[in-house]
Amino acid sequence: MTHPALARVAAELAAFPALIRALPVVHSPDPIALREELASRFTFAAAEPLLPLTEEIIARLRTGLIHVTHPRYYGLFNPSVRPAAVVGDALAALYNPQLAVWSHAPVVQELERLTLRTFAAALGYDPDTMAAHFTSGGAEANLAATLAALADRCPEASVDGLAALTRRPMIYVSGESHHSFVKIARMTGLGTSAIREVPITDQLVMDPDALHRMMTADASLGHLPLMAVGTAGTTSAGMVDPLPAIADVAAHHGAWFHADAAWGGAAALSPRLRPLLDGIERADSITWDAHKWLSVPMGAGMIFTRHPEAMAKAFTVASSYMPPATSPVTSDPHLVTPQWSRRATGLKVFFALAELGLDGYARLIEHQAAMGALLRERLTAEGWIVVNDAVLPVVNFTHPAIRDGRTTTTAVRDAIYARGNAWISEVQLTGRERVLRACITSYETMPEDVEALVGELNQVIGDW
Ligand SMILES: Cc1ncc(COP(=O)(O)O)c(C=O)c1O
Repeated sequence: MTHPALARVAAELAAFPALIRALPVVHSPDPIALREELASRFTFAAAEPLLPLTEEIIARLRTGLIHVTHPRYYGLFNPSVRPAAVVGDALAALYNPQLAVWSHAPVVQELERLTLRTFAAALGYDPDTMAAHFTSGGAEANLAATLAALADRCPEASVDGLAALTRRPMIYVSGESHHSFVKIARMTGLGTSAIREVPITDQLVMDPDALHRMMTADASLGHLPLMAVGTAGTTSAGMVDPLPAIADVAAHHGAWFHADAAWGGAAALSPRLRPLLDGIERADSITWDAHKWLSVPMGAGMIFTRHPEAMAKAFTVASSYMPPATSPVTSDPHLVTPQWSRRATGLKVFFALAELGLDGYARLIEHQAAMGALLRERLTAEGWIVVNDAVLPVVNFTHPAIRDGRTTTTAVRDAIYARGNAWISEVQLTGRERVLRACITSYETMPEDVEALVGELNQVIGDW
């Protein structure tokens, strides 16, 4: 029998996207009060009827979150979600396909494969020779890339550990790279001192000449330049590192070239923005998160590599209890990825791609880039100072009142939060001042929303 709570959830799925504009974007509860209230409300001593419980939790969700799907959430890379992707995610929850082995979920495996092949082609990879997999997110994809690089360049370490290596493997990032590499250095046992921070240029991108000098110096000390990471769409400033030059330097030193395009990879689907990613096709591996700019729910990362055999070396483990491989043309994800049991992460991405089509995705991405350009223009016109030169829609900005010490980015940010109508963040750019950061994360952000943010900022700065 259909449970009424399922119908209630279906009604919420249909109603919420239209309701969200009326909700405050920001919610900042007192943590102790919230914890205590929930602990006294939910003791789990008695069973609860599902329908009223569902009603209550829906009400709590509506009022108890920073709404990242709100068109005036100008935040971290958390997108609004396409209805098609929500459908895909709901079906994944319902059918609970097990993606560890091909034979348990053939139809989902093949839909994921088609989706990944389409994105691989947009990146400039040959879909027939690359390997690609869905991950929980960008951090896992970056980890998988690092482990594949290690398996490829230092195969002896997979048996005898890093201690068996005569040369210490080094990873090259910039100060603007994502900090998942710090965790990765710990998780892999490489150690955080194996992370070399390459200086950045005035444009906030990695300086490839400095990368070359650092790799040369490390090699002469007996270290192994293992991997260079170029970021396509930096987290703080939305900049794209010079991928062709990084590819050249990595090739010269025999290092693995990883492109972290967790957010910026989406530019591959826009004919207008695709040239920004030129050189990405030379990367040995690429991270691209669908749950950043492809407007699908978390978590849906993707890892692509031109070296399927390196993934297999890194992750293949024999076990008698897993079902046998189905055929030579299929591969079992648990043998070539870090995860074992895996959710049907790609189903929602397939749904979004199929519903929008490639042209629809291009329009959605270009609209957001256009809203970013509009925000830069409007902020500048209103006396704010935009400090980054990104084509992708991340805007870093400050104000003369901040520069001359009348107020701070933190005070402006907090005043915006207190008003509740928009969400922005602040960020410390490498070697630069602390600035405010606004990113267009919703395909439903329109010029009036941009104007509303500028209005909020002007109101707040007017007090100083
Ligand atoms: C450039 C970049 N790489 C990797 C990540 C990590 O991705 P995730 O949060 O999906 O693990 C992020 C997150 O913002 C990012 O901006």
